[in-house]
Amino acid sequence: MKRFDIITIFPDIFSGFLGESLISKAIAKRLISVRTHYLRKWTTDRHQTVDGKAYGGGPGLVMRVEPIAKAVKAITNNGIRITNKGKTKVILFSPRGKQMDQAMVKRWAKYNRLVFICGRYEGVDERVADHIADEVVSVGPYVLNGGEVAAMAAIEAVARLIPGFMHDADSQTKEDHPQYTKPEVFALRPLAISGKAISKKSKMLRVPKVLLSGDHAKIKDWRDKHRK
Ligand code: 6GU
Repeated sequence: MKRFDIITIFPDIFSGFLGESLISKAIAKRLISVRTHYLRKWTTDRHQTVDGKAYGGGPGLVMRVEPIAKAVKAITNNGIRITNKGKTKVILFSPRGKQMDQAMVKRWAKYNRLVFICGRYEGVDERVADHIADEVVSVGPYVLNGGEVAAMAAIEAVARLIPGFMHDADSQTKEDHPQYTKPEVFALRPLAISGKAISKKSKMLRVPKVLLSGDHAKIKDWRDKHRK
């Protein structure tokens, strides 16, 4: 059983993701366990403040280090990252991190427990990256509202590597060549603009002939040539 702990101020974002398809099946089969932890639980003030103004000025609020430190400590057994159930890794999701790739995912898949900190607002106090998280990771070269979408991508990518997660082993490697299924010919109807067709003829979209030939050597050549 691989365990994911997600520290977030928006735990509800995860409910649809965890309740559907292969992820929900993996949870039911006890291949994975995913817990969300509401960051405000580790605040001490009446307003459950998780952010503050940036020292040095500037617009926007920065997530505070104390609630995050307390959450990680509580989740990781007083901050001890090696337990009798195996190793733990703590990852901060931030646009300032190293971009996530499959090699990173393969490395994470060796841990029994992954703790994901979802940054929000305009940033996270740098002491989290420097002293609490083991790694800082970005999901891609664009800016999101927070790390929640990145955490979901990471859970899905890691879970796919667990034996028994996929229907069959082949699906673990992505098909990097174009694929087609029935029908052999699809008649694409002309676009209508305000009810008036701009062309009368349907476009006949055909599956490449070679794929229907049954010639496996030729099919392999075609796929190799069109591989991404
Ligand atoms: Cl992990 N967080 C945010 N807020 N933006 C991002 C990101 C993460 N990865 C890419 N952009």
